[in-house]
Amino acid sequence: MLVLNNIEVMYNDVVLVLKGLSLQAQEGQIVALLGSNGAGKSTALKAISGLLQPENGEVSDGNITFLGKSLIQRDAADIVREGVFLVMEGRRVFEHLTVEENLRAGAYTRRGNAAQDVDLVYEYFPRLRERRTQTAGFLSGDGQQMLAIGRALMAHPRLMLLDEPSLGLAPLLVEEIFRIIKRINQEQGTTILRVEQNARLALDVADYVYIMESGRIVLDGSPKDLQNNADVRECYLGLNEVGKPKSYREVKHYKRRKCWLS
Ligand SMILES: Nc1ncnc2c1ncn2[C@@H]1O[C@H](COP(=O)(O)OP(=O)(O)O)[C@@H](O)[C@H]1O
Ligand SMILES: [Mg+2]
Repeated sequence: MLVLNNIEVMYNDVVLVLKGLSLQAQEGQIVALLGSNGAGKSTALKAISGLLQPENGEVSDGNITFLGKSLIQRDAADIVREGVFLVMEGRRVFEHLTVEENLRAGAYTRRGNAAQDVDLVYEYFPRLRERRTQTAGFLSGDGQQMLAIGRALMAHPRLMLLDEPSLGLAPLLVEEIFRIIKRINQEQGTTILRVEQNARLALDVADYVYIMESGRIVLDGSPKDLQNNADVRECYLGLNEVGKPKSYREVKHYKRRKCWLS
């Protein structure tokens, strides 16, 4: 459904951030893209969504196709109309609008009925219904993240791109959000490409996982493959060969030599 083939992204005509990144998402899948801070994850999502231009970035090589059509050199609004919706890092909501106004403001690309769509969002996020008249800026971090995903849902995307939806949230709330993302995937048939730093979480809720470092993919496979991969176990999950947690010291030492993620 989505294919990135050997893409390069450059900022300001000089800084090469993606260096031949290739990945795919099949229709109906949840795909996780993992990488440490600065690996180029957000850049990859912006490249897909046509959002590099405002940052003086461009895809300088390779191609990106969605359902067989190229997304290169296309307008961001046009890409949304194709059915690709990015939920940016850091819960971008209209802080001065209420929860419900935020949802309705997201409905400009909708294909359905706004009132029904708002109800659909409330079905997935009952807490937003309770706070529908509250100003979005006063919601907690997880409330804002739910609202940001709710706004995406209003657009009925075929492919939802989520940039670190778990960032800064307590573990229980992360679990709740991931459960809801999984439900949206299953019930709405929305394909999901999710970017994360946290390996353990990403492996739990994904059909396929890519690990990137410094602008390219260094490893990919099913969560099961990666869970059984010795390097991933060591670096990422902090486990030794018999599945026991390693001491912080050992992990750190290992990371310096070999690991992709911090
Ligand atoms: N607008 C920009 N201009 C120049 N460099 C940028 C810009 N945005 C990001 N970068 C650089 O690109 C690299 C990857 O950034 P980013 O895609 O945000 O990584 P991640 O999301 O994986 O943390 C970083 O080194 C960052 O400094
Ligand atoms: Mg990022």
